[in-house]
Amino acid sequence: MAKITLDIFRFDQAVDDIPHRDKVALEIPETITVLDALEFAKAEVDGSISFRRSCRSAICGSCSMNINGVTGLACKTPCNTVLRSDGTIAIDPMPNFQPMKDLVVHMDPFWDKYTRLKPYLQPPDRDEDNPTERRVSPDDMKKLVEVANCVMCATCYALCPVVSVDPAFAGPAAIAYAYRFVEDVRDGQTKERLGQINDDYLWLCAHCYACSYCPKHVEPHDRIVDVKRRTVQESVHMNERGPRHALVVNKTIKQTGMLGETEVIQGTVGRFNIRGLLKVAPLGLRMASKGKLPPIFLRPIPKVDEVRTIFESLEVPTLK
Ligand code: SF4
Ligand code: SF4
Ligand code: FES
Repeated sequence: MAKITLDIFRFDQAVDDIPHRDKVALEIPETITVLDALEFAKAEVDGSISFRRSCRSAICGSCSMNINGVTGLACKTPCNTVLRSDGTIAIDPMPNFQPMKDLVVHMDPFWDKYTRLKPYLQPPDRDEDNPTERRVSPDDMKKLVEVANCVMCATCYALCPVVSVDPAFAGPAAIAYAYRFVEDVRDGQTKERLGQINDDYLWLCAHCYACSYCPKHVEPHDRIVDVKRRTVQESVHMNERGPRHALVVNKTIKQTGMLGETEVIQGTVGRFNIRGLLKVAPLGLRMASKGKLPPIFLRPIPKVDEVRTIFESLEVPTLK
């Protein structure tokens, strides 16, 4: 048995203006999970402590919370792996969500974004004269297995810094789940799906990898990269800034071995988009005043041919 103190965020939207914290001292085996410790605290000390849970085995996705500042499933986190040296574990609701009661948060924005991307199969119209099974090869299925493990726990969403500054961004879970249908050979709405993901600010993803901490190994960041790649392959919304930015970055690196920032700005905004260029002009002037203006023309680095060979072997698309 170990002496463990849970330092719990407390807030009830029905009665509280501001949150406070309660410390609950327990004597429990240190190998039990944080969820079991919370259950113990609720059963033995304070029945009003509120949190979501169901399966206790990392399947239902209900128990995601912040544990010592890191979001994860409480039922998959043994106390002894997170215990601080002073014997406490700080438990808070997931960030990027409004708390409702203690560790229970309002999930509506997360579900709204998820449902907007139509997370269900939309097969093309069936040929009634020749009805056949819609079969998926093992190789095609392999692409979907990993992402189908998503338990909608919202851990990745809570960890995403872009969601915290721009709530319009669909977030990693919704995009990863949309990928599951984009890549499903039985689906008939690929372009429409990609268009909707673009409209939900796919290209705002900053590729910070914070969402790679997924308890079910869905790797949502990698799925976002896959969706971006597919968007370019399918030529969806190619005149918008996101895909143009990606392609012009590829182009300058392939040409010179370096990121040509001046060309990236022009290529992203549009060389003849006078209004757009005027909008970024103040940034250019500020950079110039600090001596940070990137060179207009870049000379290719030595051995740039090796960089080009990599691009060609990976068939990386570039802006024409
Ligand atoms: S992708 Fe992973 S972290 Fe995100 S909701 Fe699904 S299971 Fe949770
Ligand atoms: S990689 Fe993209 S989606 Fe994932 S946390 Fe970073 S910004 Fe958010
Ligand atoms: S209780 Fe179901 S995932 Fe933790």
